[in-house]
Amino acid sequence: MSHPQHPGADEASESPEAGATSPEALTNASTRADRAAEPVAEDRSNDGVDEGEEDGADAGAERHPKYGARIRSFVVRPGRMGTGQVRALAELGPTYILPFQPAPMDYAAVFGRQAPVVLEIGFGMGAATAQIAQSLPDHDFIGCEVHEPGVGALLKLIGEHQISNLRIFQHDAVEVLDSMIPPGSLAGVHIYFPDPWHKKRHHKRRLVQPPFIAKLVTHLAPGGYLHLATDWEPYAQQMLEVLSADPDLINTSSRADGYADKPSYRPQTKFEHRGLKLGHGVWDLVFRRRER
Ligand SMILES: C[S@@+](CC[C@H](N)C(=O)[O-])C[C@H]1O[C@@H](n2cnc3c(N)ncnc32)[C@H](O)[C@@H]1O
Repeated sequence: MSHPQHPGADEASESPEAGATSPEALTNASTRADRAAEPVAEDRSNDGVDEGEEDGADAGAERHPKYGARIRSFVVRPGRMGTGQVRALAELGPTYILPFQPAPMDYAAVFGRQAPVVLEIGFGMGAATAQIAQSLPDHDFIGCEVHEPGVGALLKLIGEHQISNLRIFQHDAVEVLDSMIPPGSLAGVHIYFPDPWHKKRHHKRRLVQPPFIAKLVTHLAPGGYLHLATDWEPYAQQMLEVLSADPDLINTSSRADGYADKPSYRPQTKFEHRGLKLGHGVWDLVFRRRER
């Protein structure tokens, strides 16, 4: 399986849903309703400063009607849906949203062809996801996101650009991975700007931890890649430690610091844009599963 390298795909522009979700609106301390539409599991505005409970974070550890009692990497927030998102959900959801069911999926049946499959965990509003899928037509993409306005936004893009190589799970990616992704089947996994869960007592919610990465690796084909990116340096360090310690992964970077140059196929994401406006750095990591 080859690591997609697609020149020209990195000149991404944000294409936020009109109104509620423009980066400017978010960065400028927008209204509560605006912030509710944002696909974020925690308040990133206080960047590491302990100001008491992060909004909704502890509530997310309680039993959830759909996802049960296990510690989760997200909190499902209600979000205001734009009319375009609502329409896209109704009209395109039945075709492009895959139902979660506890049985391994058949990629050929879903996509109508045999092609390398890439899984993305937490696509947010989906603009980068749509752009990558369009720029790599020889790959098929599965995006997982629990935030409904984000799912609606990506469906809208799928409709506008007639993207045929992308399907969505509106479900916890951990459960999708456990139940539906066949072992050794993925050409790649993208996790871009996962919630950093700044506070120490919330670190257990971070996606990138040794057991989850070990599980992800078993779902990669030999030679398959894992591409992570974050704007939160302590999380970048954790990512580098966890990935470097996994015996089945090899770092593709030859840089002394171990991080990768941003691959050309990855556009700037919405959360990356937001982090950059806050003065954050950006760290990419690209590792491969050993061939043996
Ligand atoms: C900080 S946002 C980043 C979104 C996007 N990747 C970007 O860079 O703009 C993280 C997203 O991951 C989603 N998420 C977190 N854990 C998830 C999981 N286990 N399954 C599906 N989505 C998840 C959240 O709902 C949220 O929308």
